[in-house]
Amino acid sequence: MKTFPKPFINDVTLRDGNQSLRRPWNIQEKKEIFQKLVELGVNGAEVGFASSGEMDFQACSEIAKMSPPGVRVSSLSRAVEKEIEISYRAISHAPEPCIHIVYPISEFAIHNVLKISHSEVLANIKNAIRFARKLSNPKTSIQFSGEHFGDCGESMDFAKEAFDAAIQEGADIINLPNTVERTRPFLFVKMVSEISEEFRDRARISVHTHNDLGMATACTVESFFAGAEQLEVTLNGIGERAGNTNLFEVVTALFLSGIKLDIHMDKIYPISKYIEQISEIKLSAKAPLVGEEVFSHRSGIHQDGVIKTSSLSRNLYGAIDPETIGRRRGHRLEFTNQSGSHMIRHILKNLGHDLSDSESRDLLNVFKNESDRVKTSLDEEIVLQKYLSIRSEAGK
Ligand code: KIV
Ligand code: ZN
Repeated sequence: MKTFPKPFINDVTLRDGNQSLRRPWNIQEKKEIFQKLVELGVNGAEVGFASSGEMDFQACSEIAKMSPPGVRVSSLSRAVEKEIEISYRAISHAPEPCIHIVYPISEFAIHNVLKISHSEVLANIKNAIRFARKLSNPKTSIQFSGEHFGDCGESMDFAKEAFDAAIQEGADIINLPNTVERTRPFLFVKMVSEISEEFRDRARISVHTHNDLGMATACTVESFFAGAEQLEVTLNGIGERAGNTNLFEVVTALFLSGIKLDIHMDKIYPISKYIEQISEIKLSAKAPLVGEEVFSHRSGIHQDGVIKTSSLSRNLYGAIDPETIGRRRGHRLEFTNQSGSHMIRHILKNLGHDLSDSESRDLLNVFKNESDRVKTSLDEEIVLQKYLSIRSEAGK
């Protein structure tokens, strides 16, 4: 059986996430979020774009000073010497600093935005990486991102020339961004695999995907199995437009595939709720893993399956045990007019009232009518109250 390395989880919430917020975070908030990332167990964090302003410089610099060994800290820059120099100044105090340089490599961006020749693109990449390498100490990693890599399906030869140039000048990490998601996951992953085949002996391959079509998690997870060792993600998937790949979804998918990670899975739910509040971006009730509704079961067939498999290592209707990701309430069974009598029996048994089959069947219509009357599902508390009032009316 093929074995896979432990993925390097590089969180970019404090840079890609932050730049998309209506109200970007202040220094204190950024430090607090960084602390959560350390608790969660990420391997690296991109903490800002140090040259974008005095506040971000300060935030990068303070975070670099507080960062523990074992957590790589990076700052983003364009291929501009001044920006690279400021990034390095901000993060050089970290035990494991990383200068991240981004430059566009797609034909569309080169012709319509840069408006320069291919050889000028290569020269700009080489000059920037060479400058960063000369400027920094040997423990500093240099990451090169070929922006819009996802659009390079028809120009893979040039993309390879760009990555080769970056590696020759000293880049240790080659990042492959799906800057705007408009390529099918299968095709993107094939491109990642081609780059990995060619360069994996000379640099660490990384992917960074956006979620414009809602497939970022799929692209990132499958890229890992195709050779990408570093995965760039954000908390709750916050980031430009429809966001970045969601850290929580990616690590859970890998965990379920048997991949070893440094992430503390039980921190997922509490940290997700914390990010919901500090980012002021509400989670959808149906957000995978962390949404309010996603462990609620209301139809009879599903409730029956959940109950019958609740003591097994895998639940018939749950991708993961909610407690594994820090959701203390576990699976929630609620009564609606689609539920069956075994549901009444199960809820009341959990609350200390052992009904016979016939007693619970007798109560079925009472509870169905009650659910119709209040026009919503009945949770455990309401079922109990209703049951107790029926009993007291009957003088039991
Ligand atoms: O989406 C993107 O291309 C980026 C780069 C800076 C990696 O965020
Ligand atoms: Zn991005």
